[in-house]
Amino acid sequence: MSTVRVGVVGAGTIAGFHLAAYSKNPDVTIVAMCDTNTERASERAREFGATAVFSDYREMVASPDIDVVSVCTPNDTHADVAIAALEAGKSVLIEKPMTVSVAQAEAIVRAEAANPGFVQIGYVRRFSSNAVTLKTFIDAGDLGPIYYTKATFLRQAGNPGGWFSDRSIAGGGPLIDLGVHFIDMCLFLMDFPEVQSVSGYTFAGLGNRGNIRGLTRYMTADYDIAQNSVEDLAGALVRFTSGAVLLIDTSYSMHGRDTQFFEIYGEKGGATLEPALHITTELHDTIVELTPTIDSLSFDVDEGFQKEIDTFVRTAQGAGVPVAPAMHGLHMARILAAIYESATLGTEIRLEPLSSATLLN
Ligand SMILES: NC(=O)c1ccc[n+]([C@@H]2O[C@H](COP(=O)([O-])OP(=O)(O)OC[C@H]3O[C@@H](n4cnc5c(N)ncnc54)[C@H](O)[C@@H]3O)[C@@H](O)[C@H]2O)c1
Repeated sequence: MSTVRVGVVGAGTIAGFHLAAYSKNPDVTIVAMCDTNTERASERAREFGATAVFSDYREMVASPDIDVVSVCTPNDTHADVAIAALEAGKSVLIEKPMTVSVAQAEAIVRAEAANPGFVQIGYVRRFSSNAVTLKTFIDAGDLGPIYYTKATFLRQAGNPGGWFSDRSIAGGGPLIDLGVHFIDMCLFLMDFPEVQSVSGYTFAGLGNRGNIRGLTRYMTADYDIAQNSVEDLAGALVRFTSGAVLLIDTSYSMHGRDTQFFEIYGEKGGATLEPALHITTELHDTIVELTPTIDSLSFDVDEGFQKEIDTFVRTAQGAGVPVAPAMHGLHMARILAAIYESATLGTEIRLEPLSSATLLN
């Protein structure tokens, strides 16, 4: 297999996970780092042996020494960086959320279709053993037709501050940051069903909870207790044209315990994915509880990133089709936009059918 030469844009927290996984893949050479903060880019370059450092992503993606690009910058910049990379002939691994708007998502879909490279969105949870195992069971029909998914991703004091709490950069709060993982998991497990309507709600009465003492949590460098323009908590009921429903809630701030819970119900069986994989089904008119014997029954972050990166590299080498193309990001952008719009208007939002043919003509 040919060597894949990598450039990473954004040298912050998540870039560290990408770089650690790239460095463990024998088919990869980490060539370049780019960050508007050149000191941070240089530090990462030294740590992972990259020979080139850029402060402008346009210069980096133009380099003939790079085959693929990881986009690890704040949410509102993903589209510009990814489109520049695709137009320069590179493939891109774009961190979630792919974009902060439907228009940006449509632009990436078009750029992916018009250029030789491909898009993989960083939906890392799809690669953990528990999700891979559950997907295998669902694809084999063991759960039967899926009609209901219930997902909860709550943090009591989890607002990271900085750009994450600036709506104009992040595109929203916990919904676009945390909820996106579980909405994608639902779409992925159900094979991207068409959305019919969305009824969403948000609350913002608690703020960023910067007052909380005695609790260690992730805070960005530019954390400012006075700054916060995102929701504390968001939730939605998403109806699919099949009749199936997704019920989701997610928070940065709330008076409750940190919770991750994902359940999916089919006519022949149901499963809990988080906090640990478990399957409930029926055999010979008897309810049967199944616990698979696999590496990790819960989301394993290191396994997830390694397999996400290894899959991206293998696809760049020409083996297999892209697993999380830009269309998956467009599905997501439409749902997120509808949830926020529904929350603002206080009414249900109906979605037009999504047709890639119309979009690409
Ligand atoms: N997959 C996951 O579970 C996961 C977890 C955390 C973050 N993320 C995503 O990763 C992305 C980055 O998050 P993070 O926590 O690493 O943020 P961060 O703030 O730690 O790092 C972002 C970096 O991008 C740099 N940057 C900003 N604009 C730039 C530009 N135009 N060109 C080059 N560099 C630029 C910043 O200087 C900073 O170093 C976000 O989209 C976030 O949602 C994903």
